[in-house]
Amino acid sequence: MIDIHSHILPGIDDGAAGWEETLQLARAAVEDGIRTIVATPHHANRSFWNYAAEVRELTAEVNKRLLAEGIQLQVLPGQEIRVHEDLLDAWSRGELLTLGGSDCVLIEMPSSSVPKNMTEIVHELSILGLRTIIAHPERNKEIANDPRLLEELVEAGAYGQMTTHSLLGGFGRQIERSAWQLCRNGLIHVISSDAHHVEKRNFRLREAYDRVEKELGKSWRVYYERNAEHIVNGRPLEDLPAELPKENLKIWRKISNIFRY
Ligand SMILES: [Fe+2]
Repeated sequence: MIDIHSHILPGIDDGAAGWEETLQLARAAVEDGIRTIVATPHHANRSFWNYAAEVRELTAEVNKRLLAEGIQLQVLPGQEIRVHEDLLDAWSRGELLTLGGSDCVLIEMPSSSVPKNMTEIVHELSILGLRTIIAHPERNKEIANDPRLLEELVEAGAYGQMTTHSLLGGFGRQIERSAWQLCRNGLIHVISSDAHHVEKRNFRLREAYDRVEKELGKSWRVYYERNAEHIVNGRPLEDLPAELPKENLKIWRKISNIFRY
């Protein structure tokens, strides 16, 4: 399995605090069945700035340590890039990384809202030859209330990345509900762990795929598994499995508004 979102690099964000935790996470990843993982430390989120060159260097060092420890895991460099004003210029300055050298960038929006110019950013990135993957849209309050906001971004060319813990109820019932709703509406294209810590936030990738298979069917599991591979290989994503009828987002909005007030 391939995991495209993780905080496995030591000591540079709120993930692994040091080498020991990096190695613990690496062992846990292998145990879960993960063979390739993209390290996506936070970048430009006000607390953490992890520039491309440093991330590349540290990733290479992690791979050396894993080899020395006999841990069969390949770590690829990446970033979880917070939307910020300087985003496009930062790309031209070479400060940003795609996921594992592909043409996909993992973009994080604020959890409270969808930036007004988000569609424009997706478009601008595509002009630069980059595909936007929206990190855990299910945890964005505006999208949870109105999935059509994500639908607009997907129509503009973005993809949705779901976090395993959201699907499995780790962030509460409300996010779990919203997570499955987004999957059923075809607005999620890849599932990954966003793992930070072996106890507090582990991988649970196999468990999430098992649940997807149970709830949505085998073709959806295959769809998500293959898309993770396509992303790191810079290939086009799979067509959506046809077996689920799309739910009406207008009705969903009405229902969620009733529960809000
Ligand atoms: Fe993350």
